[in-house]
Amino acid sequence: MTDENSMKDELDELVENMIRIMETEDAKAYSEDVISEFRNPSNVGRMADADGEGVADGLCKDTMEMWVKVRDGLIVDCTFFTDGCGATIACGSRLTRFVKGLSTDEAMRVRPRDLVSLLNGLPPDHEHCAALAIIALKNALRDCEARRSAGAGGVRR
Ligand code: FES
Repeated sequence: MTDENSMKDELDELVENMIRIMETEDAKAYSEDVISEFRNPSNVGRMADADGEGVADGLCKDTMEMWVKVRDGLIVDCTFFTDGCGATIACGSRLTRFVKGLSTDEAMRVRPRDLVSLLNGLPPDHEHCAALAIIALKNALRDCEARRSAGAGGVRR
């Protein structure tokens, strides 16, 4: 089984657990956008030929990883993986879709509150999950820039 498949299986299992938790806890706290995003997340998994990768560790002990591919200054692909909560899966999924096609400068300006708006809101005690996704993205973009500056990694801008 490839790394990507095992990550997808791991995330599928996590999503199933989260669905059970979210259905039994206060489901009304989550917008329909959040629930549909984490039930069927996009862009999950490691990108083997990424130009940059970034990690963010939350105080909640959850982790978000993000990978980007950049061409001519534009983000052409972005994927994520997290061991975090349902809201974090929704944040990773929505953010990776949103930044595709943005310039790296535009993506660096996306704020956690922008991501919360894209998801039509998050419960206050899960707003930090959006920050985790944004930090992982920015770390991936910084890594991409560092590789480009070092002349390694074959990044074409
Ligand atoms: Fe830890 Fe959501 S990232 S609770």
